[in-house]
Amino acid sequence: SGRGEPVPTPRFRLPLLGDLLSVDPAKPVQKEMRMAADLGPIFERKIVSTRLVVVSGVDLVAEVNDEAAWAKSLGAPIRKLRSVAADGLFTAYNSEPNWAKAQRILNPGFSQAALRNYHGSMLRMLEQMTGSWDAAAEEGARVDVAADTTRLALDVIGSAGFGHDFGSFARAAGDDPFVDAMSRVLAHVNRTSNDMPLLRTVLGRKADAQHRADIALMHRVVDDVIAQRRQDPDVEHRDLLDLMLHSTDPETGELLDPVNVRNQVVTFLIAGNETTAGTLAFALYFLARHPEVAAAARAEIDGVVPGDGPIAFEQVGKLRYLRRVVDETLRLWPAAPGYFRKVRHDTTLGGRYRMPKGSWVFVLLPQLHRDPVWGPDPDRFDPDRFLPEAVRARPAHAYRPFGTGPRSCIGRQFALHEAVLALAVLLRRYELEPDPGYELDVREAITLKPQGFELRLRRRG
Ligand code: HEM
Repeated sequence: SGRGEPVPTPRFRLPLLGDLLSVDPAKPVQKEMRMAADLGPIFERKIVSTRLVVVSGVDLVAEVNDEAAWAKSLGAPIRKLRSVAADGLFTAYNSEPNWAKAQRILNPGFSQAALRNYHGSMLRMLEQMTGSWDAAAEEGARVDVAADTTRLALDVIGSAGFGHDFGSFARAAGDDPFVDAMSRVLAHVNRTSNDMPLLRTVLGRKADAQHRADIALMHRVVDDVIAQRRQDPDVEHRDLLDLMLHSTDPETGELLDPVNVRNQVVTFLIAGNETTAGTLAFALYFLARHPEVAAAARAEIDGVVPGDGPIAFEQVGKLRYLRRVVDETLRLWPAAPGYFRKVRHDTTLGGRYRMPKGSWVFVLLPQLHRDPVWGPDPDRFDPDRFLPEAVRARPAHAYRPFGTGPRSCIGRQFALHEAVLALAVLLRRYELEPDPGYELDVREAITLKPQGFELRLRRRG
């Protein structure tokens, strides 16, 4: 039909304010999951004058993932992150020349050969974590899982990407100041991306001042990391920072400019940390709750890596069951819970909904990953959903935890290698004992993490 149909909306709407009262500022994604369960694979929220179309059905997602008609859009939260990372890879507009340039320069940093290089750093950082977990096991103390996976992921991206050991586990008390500042920045962006200027309060202004101070601290840490490297220009590190500082763009022959280098380092410290940390924490949650899955994963690890020597690079790729555990974790709780798409020209989505050129939608991944194509019990954790024949039987766009198209995740292989390796090291070494009273509480700060999830550890044999 020429005029199209209206996108479904909540049944009750306030004049002027629209669906403002339905906003859950702390957990917008989980609110949208409930709305999608109620309103269907596409719905619209209206918050005063801002309209947000949320898409989560597999056919509609396949359509908005089509690069010929749609493209990445930054969306309000990512636009807000430009105050931190400007034209870094993740927050760059599609049209910014520095996006394509940085892609060309940094792509070799994610090849198989590069990953092989990072493997050793990953193992060293994991040793700092097991040192800390061994002590907790001995004392019978509980560990805060998301806090520790965040320490690990920061140490890994710091050391593998930038030759900088944050030493997060060596700190006597408290969090790394960078992690502290970063997590406040992300929570602030999450909380305020739907705010209207008129609703900004005195409290809001105080939070804004803290926000600016946090961004300044992050930039100082990054500038230190870069300055440290510039002091020994002759040593070859073969990591991301070397590419950023010394590699020329094959197309223009130019280096990245110094301001862009800072934006990229900040980008990777955030993107390489938060999502991987959340994924590892959710995976440990599922493994602790499903002892039969943990046992199958341990049997695989003991078969692939006999004895107690370190796990070799090639062995990680052989841990197929553990990889399915990670895949299934990313299905139920994709740590980056969605992405924005905007339409290149007037179109009709699903043959029904008119989308004028420039309009945009949010792809809600945790709900896409519970689409009816996943079967009758989509909330059940079952790694066998990722057996090759099961994957082949599903539409490709039913699973998009790393995004889609040219703006999808550059760090995907890095993250998967890190996650499988970390889980292998931890499962090999510890029995995981969850607190039986814990109920999963998913914290949202742009990315998702299990909050308040603690484990008691017992050293294995
Ligand atoms: C982009 C997810 C780990 C670096 C993205 C996007 C998603 C995503 C969904 C697309 C965002 C959009 O369309 O707006 C994840 C998940 C991870 C992970 C779930 C872990 C399990 C990493 C790691 C790194 C990284 C380890 C770096 C080492 C990036 C960068 C982009 C990106 C730089 C922007 C790429 C571009 O637009 O050119 N990621 N990511 N990510 N990710 Fe990841």
